[in-house]
Amino acid sequence: MLKHKNIILGVCGSIAAYKSAFLVRLLVKAGANVKVILTPDGANFITPLTLATLSKNPVYTQYFEEETGVWSNHVELGLWADLIIIAPISANTLAKLATGICDNLLTAVYLSAKCPVYVAPAMDLDMWKHESTQANIAKINSYGNTVIAPGSGELASGLYGEGRMAEPEEIISFLDEAIKKSMPLYGKKVMVTAGPTYEAIDPVRFIGNHSSGKMGFALADELARLGADVTLIAGPTAQKCDQNVIRKDVVSAQQMFEACSSVFPETDITVMCAAVADYRPKTVATNKIKKQDSNLVLELEKTVDILANLGQAKKANQILVGFALETNDEENYAKGKLEKKNLDLVILNSLNDKGAGFKSDTNKITIFNRALERTVFEMKSKTDVAKDICSAILKIVK
Ligand code: CTP
Repeated sequence: MLKHKNIILGVCGSIAAYKSAFLVRLLVKAGANVKVILTPDGANFITPLTLATLSKNPVYTQYFEEETGVWSNHVELGLWADLIIIAPISANTLAKLATGICDNLLTAVYLSAKCPVYVAPAMDLDMWKHESTQANIAKINSYGNTVIAPGSGELASGLYGEGRMAEPEEIISFLDEAIKKSMPLYGKKVMVTAGPTYEAIDPVRFIGNHSSGKMGFALADELARLGADVTLIAGPTAQKCDQNVIRKDVVSAQQMFEACSSVFPETDITVMCAAVADYRPKTVATNKIKKQDSNLVLELEKTVDILANLGQAKKANQILVGFALETNDEENYAKGKLEKKNLDLVILNSLNDKGAGFKSDTNKITIFNRALERTVFEMKSKTDVAKDICSAILKIVK
């Protein structure tokens, strides 16, 4: 969850500042971009060099670095951050956050930031219990910040009790969980199909199509990025999906149907992007068909229409999205599929649009909703098209 996130770690004056080194390592390991701001007191407990080396970024200690003459722009830093975690936060900085006192770079960045802010207090048990500290905690909570509660144990003073900063691993799990919960599709189970299906003729030949799977894979990745638990049912394709996506590989339409039927009852949202073969050879030869002098005629039988089946089984709280790939009379066919297959959205691709459809990295879509309202989109990368489709889905979810 922390991958590619821009994170500011604030470190205040507390013996627990040594744990910040571990926290930086874990954040960097999780793929986050970390910038550390040390308060003047924090710098008495841990060196900027340690945190700069671990974070792979310069450490900010004041507005103006005397040696380099560089001005640290607190507004820019605040806007850069996707998340601020102040760990450890001292009773002093806690009081500043509660009252808006802004006398160092960290408190200025805090006031400038628009992102979620988490604080992990560390102090002696009596300081922690003090009414003013608890009032400050309540105050910063009421501003929408989140306090990661301290644990109990032996404190630097030698006393036992509450006040130990949460362990770095606990902080990472806490942030992971909080990010997950803030995602728009958190807790939603989603199924996506992608790629072609191959219908066997004999052990070495098949009927297939040119689908690359790129659109479906981009959709699965985007839905996962929005916090959904995604199961991707993929026909034969060389595409790779995000590690958060559960992938089930299938070959034929029948296998895709069986995989979809087992996953569908539990899903909240289903997006059927696969180019499923409509016909398959009626019989599959056990051995390779040998060349004859005469022509070869294959009898084809219909495959099951997976989407139409899911449309029939769909419950009121399930969202079903289908694609329509057309070459002529596109909008009418697309609207027809929306009605016939009981869809909530249909995504129209026209093969008449250059750069749209199979194999290309771009796509041009038109979306129809249940009210048959039409939204036309420009040609875009399939990653951006996936974002547009997800926005349309989010409108229904809301
Ligand atoms: N689809 C499916 N099972 C099939 C055929 C299609 O689930 N056997 C789904 C596709 O994944 C897509 C939608 O149905 O979401 C429309 O597919 P498309 O090939 O455009 O249309 P068809 O229903 O097959 O009709 P036609 O080929 O006549 O256009």
